[in-house]
Amino acid sequence: MTIVWCSNYEELSRKAAAIIASQIIIKPTSTIGFATGSTPIGLYANLVKKYQNKEISFANVKAFNLDEYITGSREVGWSFSSFMQTHLFSHVDIPEENTDIPNGVAEDLEVECARYSEALSEVPGGLDYQILGIGTNGHIGFVEPNEFYPLDTHIVDLAESSIIGQRPFFEDWSKIPTRALTVGIRPIMHAKQLLLIASGPEKSEILQKALFGVVTSKVPASILQLHKNLTVVADKEALADILANNPECSL
Ligand code: GLP
Repeated sequence: MTIVWCSNYEELSRKAAAIIASQIIIKPTSTIGFATGSTPIGLYANLVKKYQNKEISFANVKAFNLDEYITGSREVGWSFSSFMQTHLFSHVDIPEENTDIPNGVAEDLEVECARYSEALSEVPGGLDYQILGIGTNGHIGFVEPNEFYPLDTHIVDLAESSIIGQRPFFEDWSKIPTRALTVGIRPIMHAKQLLLIASGPEKSEILQKALFGVVTSKVPASILQLHKNLTVVADKEALADILANNPECSL
């Protein structure tokens, strides 16, 4: 595990974008797993800038997403599909046919879960990079705390803390979906490299538990400790508990 300590969110976003941009430059046909939520917004803004400066092209990049709400329509402004268009895909040259995300309005959600798991399993050698945020309850994607680790794409009832965590994206909180489709841990752990990003004091306790606590499905992100290529890019607020509890992690 490599931990990149950043002074603030701006530096975190810049350094995380440099990692993903390097991957795209080294391998223009990279398959990348993208995350949603507030944390990656700065990363995506930096990637857009790099594209606009002609430093990178997404023309041959393939994109998957971790999750999608079970919604009334894909076009609603708060779907993760809309989020990715707003913050990245509509600003760069990624062909629409190169992007895939679970369809939260599929007629048969179980069939859609199987389709998406199949699509991920067909990526030769696994995703080149999986970008991850972390929920305050330790969820990755929407793999929520549970008695076991789900391996493949599945329907999930969102935890209360996850529903609360969506509030910044909704004017009317009653509209926040309570169910979603999410990948399981198989494509995450099969990815060649993982980039976990975290910002702010509200992530400090869970980051300590996830990265230095017991590996348990009750803290889903803790399984990331077992991945051989995990890079964590976080700001000092999110790293406060780790720095306080692990003297070997001195700066
Ligand atoms: C969201 C997403 C996760 C994300 C997490 C943290 O709901 N399903 O992929 O990592 O919750 O989001 P944020 O970055 O806004 O704290």
